[in-house]
Amino acid sequence: MARIGVIGAGYVGLTTAACFARLGHTVVCADVDEARVAALGRAEIGAYEPGLADLVAEGSRAGRLRFVLGNAEALAEADFVFLCVPTPTGVDGAADLTAVHAVLREAREAVRPGCVLVIKSTVPAGTTERVADLVGRPDVRVVSNPEFLREGHAVDDFLRPQRVVVGSEEEGAARRVVALYAGTGAPALVTGSASAELVKYASNCFLAMKLSYVNSLAELCERVGADIGDVTEGMRLDDRIGSSFLDPGPGWGGSCFPKDTRALLSTAEDARVDFPLLRATIGTNGHQAHRVVAMVREAVGGQLAGVRLGLLGLTFKAGTDDLRDSPALAVASLLAAEGAWLTGYDPCVARDCGPVRVLASAEAVAANADGLVVLTEWPEFAELDWPNLAAAMARPVIVDTRNLLPVEKVVEAGFHLVSLGRPTPARPGRTGPDPHRL
Ligand code: NAI
Repeated sequence: MARIGVIGAGYVGLTTAACFARLGHTVVCADVDEARVAALGRAEIGAYEPGLADLVAEGSRAGRLRFVLGNAEALAEADFVFLCVPTPTGVDGAADLTAVHAVLREAREAVRPGCVLVIKSTVPAGTTERVADLVGRPDVRVVSNPEFLREGHAVDDFLRPQRVVVGSEEEGAARRVVALYAGTGAPALVTGSASAELVKYASNCFLAMKLSYVNSLAELCERVGADIGDVTEGMRLDDRIGSSFLDPGPGWGGSCFPKDTRALLSTAEDARVDFPLLRATIGTNGHQAHRVVAMVREAVGGQLAGVRLGLLGLTFKAGTDDLRDSPALAVASLLAAEGAWLTGYDPCVARDCGPVRVLASAEAVAANADGLVVLTEWPEFAELDWPNLAAAMARPVIVDTRNLLPVEKVVEAGFHLVSLGRPTPARPGRTGPDPHRL
């Protein structure tokens, strides 16, 4: 079993540290954020992530997991040091590597002879090879090991990953990193470091592209009288296409897709490679929030000023409390800019977010509202008491940007339901040609 240092106790660092401790390694996890380190010392993880708090408590109790303020100890004591620091969007969309560079400079003097530095942060192709000079120690290897975990499934994804990718110009160092994952049963891919770095961007950008594609397809469905649910059901039966990331929505977001798509585009521009597909993927996503706002505006009668809207879901996807780059909040800002009054309910959000006053239940946001907008695919939203909600609202209008709701039940309860890429169902007992006019 190895001695592992993890630098950065955020989403990826904490999962990495707790899971390596579970696999039997001894882990020191460092962060520069004093409050965060203090909370982790009490096994308070500060995020909604199934199983992670238990794993942190278990590792700490067993003496295999410690949290420290500052990086010195984690660097000095480890055979392997994992860099899990942020790489946000910097100038011109490129990844900002300030934190990665800072840790590598610190490592130069601090790490043990023969230590392997492992870059788990998402960094552009070519970074690992370039930054080896910053460390400048011939006995120390710098290796790429991108992380593919999904928020909401982080523990499971780390302990049972679909693949472990390790990139290095020296195969021996890569193999030693692969060996740390023994016990996960994951297939390992050892490549050059630039290829490993690119696997991460290539995967995230491909998924973003699928979502942008399906969002445009949904718009087309509305125009030609097709149903996106039927179209994607047919597509999913083709195993060359695969069945995931084919659900339309209010746009993709979160802490990774927006920054990774922009960073890959920047890498392509630097390399003088024209990548119009990626530009269109990003552009289509920018359009999606405006399209949702236009649908809401039309559903409530043509203007949003003074309209009271209840938002169902604020996080960027279900199963997480992460609000970073949430498309729900992008839609909320646009609605507020047109003068709508916003309340919101999300099972994982308790505090007000920007223009959204957060309430404790779906019923509370429905009370006296002129419309509801489903923005996150929390399964509980499909189980709401529709007749009661309709009765509580000023106008029973609902825009479902996740195509999550049971159409028949919602319409039977008297709602005017608008969804993405599907015909708008007529309300029972309703005659007249135009279901949009209230
Ligand atoms: P985060 O923002 O949750 O955590 C980063 C942590 O690093 C923070 O606690 C911060 O205080 C700490 N930190 C910053 N500078 C530091 C320094 N110089 N020394 C020590 N600690 C420092 O970030 P997150 O989400 O964990 O992302 C980290 C990297 O992993 C990024 O490159 C991201 O793209 C990548 N990634 C993120 C995934 C996700 O789902 N969040 C999934 C896969 C990769």
